[in-house]
Amino acid sequence: MGNILTVLALLFGIFQLSTELVITRQSVVGMKGSKVTLDCKYHSSDRWYLMQWKRQLTDKTDVTITTLVNHGKTSSPTPIWEEGIEDNFRTRARTSVFVDVNNVDFTLFINDFSCNDTGTYICLVTAANSFRNTTNLTITAKPERPTVLDDEVILEENDTYTLECTAMAGIPEADLRWYYKIPGTMDFVRIDEEYKQETIEVDECNQRAIQKIDVSIKQYLDGITYRCKVESDLLDEQEKESFYDDVVLKLPKKIIHQPEYKVPTERQTDYTNKSSSIQRYMTLLLTLMMFCICIYL
Ligand SMILES: *[C@@H]1O[C@H](CO)[C@@H](O)[C@H](O)[C@H]1NC(C)=O
Ligand SMILES: *[C@@H]1O[C@H](CO)[C@@H](O)[C@H](O)[C@H]1NC(C)=O
Ligand SMILES: *[C@@H]1O[C@H](CO)[C@@H](O)[C@H](O)[C@H]1NC(C)=O
Ligand SMILES: *[C@@H]1O[C@H](CO)[C@@H](O)[C@H](O)[C@H]1NC(C)=O
Ligand SMILES: *[C@@H]1O[C@H](CO)[C@@H](O)[C@H](O)[C@H]1NC(C)=O
Repeated sequence: MGNILTVLALLFGIFQLSTELVITRQSVVGMKGSKVTLDCKYHSSDRWYLMQWKRQLTDKTDVTITTLVNHGKTSSPTPIWEEGIEDNFRTRARTSVFVDVNNVDFTLFINDFSCNDTGTYICLVTAANSFRNTTNLTITAKPERPTVLDDEVILEENDTYTLECTAMAGIPEADLRWYYKIPGTMDFVRIDEEYKQETIEVDECNQRAIQKIDVSIKQYLDGITYRCKVESDLLDEQEKESFYDDVVLKLPKKIIHQPEYKVPTERQTDYTNKSSSIQRYMTLLLTLMMFCICIYL
């Protein structure tokens, strides 16, 4: 009988140990500017416990963000914000607490999620023992619509020109790709050979990508369209279809004789010819008159 009790006690102990768990999601990917949720679930029937959300700094030290204490009396404990956390973070952070007989859910929300908020977050529980679990918080951001610097380029046959396409590239950096469409054909063709994409860091959360391509033109390519597209899995179907910009390459216009321009020129010529012939008649008449006068004299 005594042995059975010991075994039961041992089993109960093991059971208790295995149920006292701090569950966090191992990694959370938040969209830039959106609201992210870090949840921490403590499985226990403890009446006294302390739960904290902490943030790991780059030097591996921790800073406490918010603390939840249950002294065993209240069934709805209220989290307390730690003093000294950045105002910028504090104004965007919220918490929620849900308690039932065997669980405490302590959730931290971050609004307007930014690159500054990424890193490792720790949920620490102090009760009879101390338990912790972590969440790696990372960020993604959608790329924006690209812009080609020119709308139309007039190019002499066989001359080369460098087209430039630029876009806010998002996180992770999206690809900018060039396509072309020959006049009279239906489809755009993807170009594989191009320069290596350049990246300019605008600030710690924004990067601008630049993709260039060298183009030239031949008679049969007059009016060819080059298209720059931004390609990213973060875009929805409609954005994938519409996030592009086009440029048209043309040969210089040939000078063609326009009949409507000939008409006024001929009229003018007629007029000058007429006036010059009048002038000639006048001169002839004058000469004749002079001649007559001379004869008469
Ligand atoms: C941490 O949370 C994960 C669930 O995401 C769980 O599988 C793991 O056992 C937890 N670790 C600890 C030490 O509680
Ligand atoms: C979190 O990120 C750090 C550094 O990037 C890495 O060392 C660690 O293994 C990650 N942890 C998890 C749970 O993914
Ligand atoms: C990010 O942190 C830097 C300095 O640590 C600060 O200058 C910047 O304003 C912060 N940006 C945001 C969006 O919080
Ligand atoms: C352009 O190059 C092609 C051969 O590649 C040549 O036949 C053509 O005459 C050239 N045109 C001019 C204007 O140089
Ligand atoms: C009119 O004058 C132009 C030069 O101004 C000349 O080339 C043309 O032959 C003339 N036409 C007539 C009908 O005289």
